[in-house]
Amino acid sequence: MVFEHASVLLAETVAALAPADGDVIVDCTVGGGGHAEALLETAACRVIGLDRDPAAVAAASARLVRFGDRFVAVRARFSELAEVLDALGLGPVQGILADLGVSSPQLDEADRGFSFQQDGPIDMRMDPDAPVSAADLVNDWPETDLADVIYRYGEERRSRAVARAIVAGRPWTSTHALAEAVARVVGRGKGRIHPATRTFQGLRIAVNDELGELERLLPTAVERLAPGGRLAVISFHSLEDRIVKRFVAEQTGRTAERDPWGNPMGEIRLRDARSIAPDSNDPNPRARSARLRCATRC
Ligand SMILES: C[S@@+](CC[C@H](N)C(=O)[O-])C[C@H]1O[C@@H](n2cnc3c(N)ncnc32)[C@H](O)[C@@H]1O
Repeated sequence: MVFEHASVLLAETVAALAPADGDVIVDCTVGGGGHAEALLETAACRVIGLDRDPAAVAAASARLVRFGDRFVAVRARFSELAEVLDALGLGPVQGILADLGVSSPQLDEADRGFSFQQDGPIDMRMDPDAPVSAADLVNDWPETDLADVIYRYGEERRSRAVARAIVAGRPWTSTHALAEAVARVVGRGKGRIHPATRTFQGLRIAVNDELGELERLLPTAVERLAPGGRLAVISFHSLEDRIVKRFVAEQTGRTAERDPWGNPMGEIRLRDARSIAPDSNDPNPRARSARLRCATRC
């Protein structure tokens, strides 16, 4: 399989992480290895690349073999960051990157079941061995639970009607048939996006517990950064970005409670927070909604 994924905000991410010789950087979402490769080329650092998708681990390992033991790939969820670093005997690290969401091959390969553009089984698991797939949600979940994820994670205003149509049309096996049923409820409208985009996003986020994973990663990442170490997170929609933004604001003391003298209470663990959006001329369509947030460990 060819793993083609155009890395988003590549130069900006490398600049934010500023790798130096001897540093250890954790790429929590190694994917096809694009960001990891750029980091390894910039300095004589080591990169630990995590991914829950075995196809990504295999692709990154093959691409980065020339760096020898400077690159280590681990199949794991990024919420398991502490366990992975402990197992590798690694203490504080100098950089942690998370480039959230799905990779292009996950979306483009019909068999992975994420796509309404190409017909395939309804699946959407980043980790093909995970116990619950999108087929389980659309075929077994109660209508109200389905409506909730489509509303909360897909931000689909017609979530209740979509969930009703999904329950009425059971059983579902094909992504095309499901997308068509959703389109009949939502209507085609004049927008550029497919009418099933929001519903598919909601199901995907629920199947992979994407927001829960991010909520668990951020505090661990800050704990495992060395003083002066850098955190960089690239998000692709407002639900992810809100979690990162709020976390960074808390950790930099911006939203912390204040004592009577106006000083933030509690420990301030991050400083120099910055937010970077891609150039509006970026040719990569995935870059359109991307946002990089970075900060330095105090
Ligand atoms: C946007 S792609 C990363 C692309 C990569 N930066 C590159 O340049 O090729 C996101 C990757 O993160 C992985 N991923 C998403 N959530 C994860 C999680 N909670 N734990 C581990 N890997 C995850 C996905 O499987 C996917 O391969």
